[in-house]
Amino acid sequence: MPPFDTIIRGGTVATASDTFACDIGIRDGRIAALGHDLGEAGETIDAAGRLVLPGGIDSHVHFAQASGPGIVMADGFETGTRSAAFGGNTTVMPFCVQEKGQSLREALKQYHAKADGQCHVDVSFHLVIADPTEQVLGQELPALVADGYTSFKVFMTYEGMALNDREMLEVMAVARRTGALVMVHAENFDAIKFLVDRLEGEGHVAPRFHATSRPIPVEREATHRAISLAELVDVPVMIVHVSNGEAMEEIRRAQAKGLKVYGETCTQYLVLTESDLDGLNMEGAKYVCSPPPRDKPSQEACWRGLETGVFSVFSSDHCPFRYDDPAGKLNPKGRTSFRWVPNGIPGVAARLPILFSEGVVKGRIDLNRFVALSSTNHAKTYGLYPRKGTIAVGADADVAIWDPDRRLTLTHDLLGDGSDYTPYEGMEITGWPVLTMVRGRVVMRDGALVGPKGHGRHLERALSPLAAPRAA
Ligand code: URP
Ligand code: ZN
Ligand code: ZN
Repeated sequence: MPPFDTIIRGGTVATASDTFACDIGIRDGRIAALGHDLGEAGETIDAAGRLVLPGGIDSHVHFAQASGPGIVMADGFETGTRSAAFGGNTTVMPFCVQEKGQSLREALKQYHAKADGQCHVDVSFHLVIADPTEQVLGQELPALVADGYTSFKVFMTYEGMALNDREMLEVMAVARRTGALVMVHAENFDAIKFLVDRLEGEGHVAPRFHATSRPIPVEREATHRAISLAELVDVPVMIVHVSNGEAMEEIRRAQAKGLKVYGETCTQYLVLTESDLDGLNMEGAKYVCSPPPRDKPSQEACWRGLETGVFSVFSSDHCPFRYDDPAGKLNPKGRTSFRWVPNGIPGVAARLPILFSEGVVKGRIDLNRFVALSSTNHAKTYGLYPRKGTIAVGADADVAIWDPDRRLTLTHDLLGDGSDYTPYEGMEITGWPVLTMVRGRVVMRDGALVGPKGHGRHLERALSPLAAPRAA
């Protein structure tokens, strides 16, 4: 028997800290050796002229989520993880959403049933706490954190999801005791409701008014409040999908004070603007997401946040709906007002090519920061490191091989998701993932799936090293 199942030969390996030429020997799904002249293997993958990177980890995606009456999310776990593999990702972190009145265990049972046997890449659930009852706070959450569900998201907006400040504090207090990491969707619910009602009253119902109804102060205020609440409880917090410099400045100021406040931004805030919601007829609905894309200065601010480390993770917030579909963006009510257009856009496959092309190729970030932002920091933040997120002996053999010179124009058919469009259609891209390997098995090669679904597994996670259990 050859000593390795697979050797990846001749590539340039990059981690979050180093770039070096070396071969990778893989045995039993793990990296068993790094070096040269590693000998024989069952299979050899030629990576000459290619970059060999830790597989992407996207810690913010939505699959198979209930999305309101008559609305169907465009991706379940099969197509969602297929698209993830097309985009060079080996782990994704979807949300398991608790509905009002539902126990967390019941919600998890449902999400596991949807995911089991369907996945092409590994998955690990965050919990969404929509109903923080005594039972949830006192019993279920602590037990689930101990079982490896070590992060949860809370919403400051959305009907049926928004928590008030008292509820946020209660959830944060559980996070403090258990060592879980709290993720916050920071937008002011009452301010949005006020603005939506006013806009509709004035007859402003087109998709572009979605952005008008959620201006920067709505996000900045909620970001400030979320940070203040976390400071009161003395617990770390991750502010997700930050769209602009003013909200980012709240995070930066908190970090400068020594608070454990972390930030995430997403593809749409780097390359889209509010004017994309202006499209003819209903085309703007394709870009309706929350927070909405802003303007060029906001894009520049988000780049600065990635360059300087204010944002430690870069995610897609993949939340796909079909456009031309009565169960999607163009549902009958959605045609009457932006209020009813489902929020969210697809992007799990486009995330890394856009960050590589716009970031590395254009010289805004170096390759090692790209790896950190796209993989390593996600693993470190959410308790998966060093099993995931790096190329090191003993780590899972989760690898993406990139052709750094491949040039193409982004079209939806390259992305493999269940939607019928990409908001990034027509972008010119340099650099593309040509092979995705999950725990030693190739799952995507040259834009085609390899092997059946079901190789991807759910991962229980350790506590985030950013958070540690503390007495009340
Ligand atoms: O519009 C968005 N981002 N939808 C996804 C849900 C969320 O808030 O992350
Ligand atoms: Zn959110
Ligand atoms: Zn999201």
